[in-house]
Amino acid sequence: MAKLQKKYFCNNCGAEAPKWLGKCPECEQWNTFVEEIVSKESKNNIRFAPEGERNVPIPLSRVEKIDYKRVLLANGEVNRVLGGGLVPGSLVLLGGEPGIGKSTLSLQIALHTQGIKTLYVSGEESAQQIRMRGERLGIDSEECLIYAETRLEDILNQMRQLTPDVVVIDSIQTMYTDSIDSSPGSVSQIRECASMLLKFVKESGISAFIIGHITKDGVIAGPKILEHIVDVVLQFEGDSNNIYRILRCMKNRFGATSEIGVFEMSGTGLREVVNPSDILLSHYDVPLSGVAVGAAIDGVRPFLIETQALVANATYSTPQRSATGFDIKRLGMLLAVLEKRLGLKLFGKDIFLNFAGGFKISDTGLDLAVVASILSSFFDIKLGDSVCFAGEIGLSGEIRPAARSEQRIAEAARLGFKRIVVSNYLKKSLKNISSDIEVIYVSRIDEVAHYLTENRQNY
Ligand code: TYD
Ligand code: MG
Repeated sequence: MAKLQKKYFCNNCGAEAPKWLGKCPECEQWNTFVEEIVSKESKNNIRFAPEGERNVPIPLSRVEKIDYKRVLLANGEVNRVLGGGLVPGSLVLLGGEPGIGKSTLSLQIALHTQGIKTLYVSGEESAQQIRMRGERLGIDSEECLIYAETRLEDILNQMRQLTPDVVVIDSIQTMYTDSIDSSPGSVSQIRECASMLLKFVKESGISAFIIGHITKDGVIAGPKILEHIVDVVLQFEGDSNNIYRILRCMKNRFGATSEIGVFEMSGTGLREVVNPSDILLSHYDVPLSGVAVGAAIDGVRPFLIETQALVANATYSTPQRSATGFDIKRLGMLLAVLEKRLGLKLFGKDIFLNFAGGFKISDTGLDLAVVASILSSFFDIKLGDSVCFAGEIGLSGEIRPAARSEQRIAEAARLGFKRIVVSNYLKKSLKNISSDIEVIYVSRIDEVAHYLTENRQNY
């Protein structure tokens, strides 16, 4: 019988210690040591499995093919992010900050069954609380069973007896197994529970959603260590002060990771936002300066988003630079390009940048829209709502093509934009462009400024 022993390992460099240490002596990182259970077994004699029981290597062509019959959940956005539905026997981690709406989303998935048997296991809320939440969501289902339990062995037993199609575990931090004596939420409990679940779902073909809390810096509470165990990692993001949420796929063993889903938190749960551009564009009666529309792509999805800039005389000797949803360093770079290549006197100006809806987007194709909104505010030019922008800006002030520009242009045309400003490099390569939209090609940042100031009367 192998002897169980506890050891401590550094999460960062893998250094080993017999007791917990605050600071790793190898890599000098703080608070990186985690407890691990190791079985102490003699490593000297290798034991081979008997002949017939041995797993042998085979060529790829002889590996049995599996045709995944994906389970379609009653939530189009979640199906899309998963790559076209849930693969039976898969383990999906749903991570996100507390209060972002993970329980709401998974309860909605569990209750909107349509012929799928679901089991919602909650270690955080009592069955009564879940009922209240269900009433708030306005849905109920006979096919969804609620189970308030935290002991994993009991949960697995219920899964074995009830054989649901989908199980939701809310949350992995509250679960514990008897085989480990550390408290629920500890690294070894989380890891052991997830491994037991993984083994069970693979054998039974039941799919499971595991909910995991992450803190602002994304480490302490554990989901990071689960990422390599599970098949799919979904992250629920957003600002809890804002109503919009993005469901992003970070890892997918059964499909692409580029899809995103957009949701709106309402009084009656999360609503799918099928057309994100609709909510990201405000329709003003009178055009305003400092507003420019960018044709963005997040994942594989094109959408148009409003960029707002405010350039005002600085109140303090050090001017303020603030960006919500956009990388502040990238903003600094764009401002430096504007100063250097256009001679714009931005020193002594406070600059604030904001994306509509509180979205965070790291798409360099939005550079041109950001610069246009800053120029619009600086020169007090109203751009109006018929023009949009898609392009990346280089350090020498050149406008480079944004990735998948054709898709961006098509989305702009679909939403009724009359003009789109893009990089001159695209002049020869663009194909199948709708005749409803005029494409304006620019090669340098001064041409953009020129175009905006020259055409101000047209907007
Ligand atoms: P919750 O799903 O409990 O978050 P998590 O499981 O990620 O911690 O959702 C928390 C927030 O959602 C809570 O502050 C209230 C809000 N909410 C709504 O706005 N509308 C609703 O219909 C529901 C159920 C929750
Ligand atoms: Mg919750």
